[in-house]
Amino acid sequence: MKVGIIGSGGREHAICEKLNISGKINKIFCFPGNAGTKEIAENVNLDLDDFKSIKNFILEKKIDIIIVGPEKPLVEGLVDYLEEFKIKVFGPNKIASQLEGSKIFTKKLCEKYKIPTAKFEIFKNREDAKQFCENCDYPKVIKANNIASGKGVYICNNNNDAKIAITEIFDGKFGKAKSIIIEEFLKGEEMSFFTIHDGIAFKNFSTAQDHKRVLEGDKGKNTGGMGAYSPSRLISEGLQQKIITKIIQPTLKGLYEMGSVYKGFLYTGLMIVNNEPYLIEYNVRMGDPECQTILPRLKTDLIDIILACCDKKLNQLKIEWLNKKSLCIVLCSNGYPDKFKKNVEIVGLENIKINQNNFLYHAGTINKNNKVYAVGGRVLNFVSISGEFDQAKKNIISNLNKLNWNDGFYRKDIGYKVIK
Ligand code: AMP
Ligand code: GLY
Repeated sequence: MKVGIIGSGGREHAICEKLNISGKINKIFCFPGNAGTKEIAENVNLDLDDFKSIKNFILEKKIDIIIVGPEKPLVEGLVDYLEEFKIKVFGPNKIASQLEGSKIFTKKLCEKYKIPTAKFEIFKNREDAKQFCENCDYPKVIKANNIASGKGVYICNNNNDAKIAITEIFDGKFGKAKSIIIEEFLKGEEMSFFTIHDGIAFKNFSTAQDHKRVLEGDKGKNTGGMGAYSPSRLISEGLQQKIITKIIQPTLKGLYEMGSVYKGFLYTGLMIVNNEPYLIEYNVRMGDPECQTILPRLKTDLIDIILACCDKKLNQLKIEWLNKKSLCIVLCSNGYPDKFKKNVEIVGLENIKINQNNFLYHAGTINKNNKVYAVGGRVLNFVSISGEFDQAKKNIISNLNKLNWNDGFYRKDIGYKVIK
């Protein structure tokens, strides 16, 4: 079987590695992939906005199934487009992808189906937004409506913070902004809850806890994710049941009543307040770095799960997990999430210990003339699975020390809530 993966991050490299051990796949293509995927797949350098060239390549190479990693092509309707040409694709369609593509779409769905979420107001111009912020209570959370990979979100402690957020968003810092959301700040603990869907049935796909802020102690700017652990320390049977009945099932019902269904991974970002789940956001894909953190714990063959989803047979499959804890630390370029140098060589990758419990997933890297260069903000993901989180972390730190890359940094406190 031939499989194609759309994307170039750590998430896509982790998916690629998992498929590579399946035994059922003889060729993997990555569009466009990175230096890590290049080791096991053919990297295809096509513009991801150019759906037609992607489709032509898939048909020409007779690729059996396409897995879409990132949100942008999903929100732009790549799945709908490829399916018109009878190509098998794993990922949600354009309507369902609005769950991530438009925060207002999701907030309105929450309102209609009484899904618990932070109270909110929507503003279409900066004057009204600023006026509202003059007299409101703080903290407030101000968000750009369009996708901004977690970066268009401001936690505002006073009117001055709010003014800056409103100005930056309407000035187009995260792309053209027609509206913004101002919401109530929820005080609790975050959790990422994953499910996998075939359009009819869905199954749990584990939980994780990301660390989104760039600095230790959860300080500094928001990033795409600096590290994660799985499973979340908060999950229990009772909480899981509440998430499914109060949040996921009403969402699927809402989509169904709009004439759509959900196929693919669904990432439910939650704030847990006194053991009650509140929806913060949906992502219509696996998380990054949550994917890298979760997949090493998966026992069932990933391609069997994905094929079952495309064939609407997920109900017939049991998804099994290793009874282990997983931790991931992201090595970033100095300066991230602001300006950082590109094309910095990374030497010594061969020193890193990789085996059935220790993994290295590339993110912003490219391979030029057999040398590896950092080209992105998040560069490498170090993952380890173990009986205990603290042992997993020790394994990762040992590998990070072996690399000792001076042009990068990482958060040393990943997993602090589960490690003493
Ligand atoms: P989002 O892109 O909507 O997930 O927001 C990014 C991050 O901002 C989340 O992971 C939370 O840490 C934080 N956040 C977003 N909305 C809220 C909220 N209503 N209350 C508290 N924190 C929030
Ligand atoms: N790690 C957060 C995300 O993938 O959106």
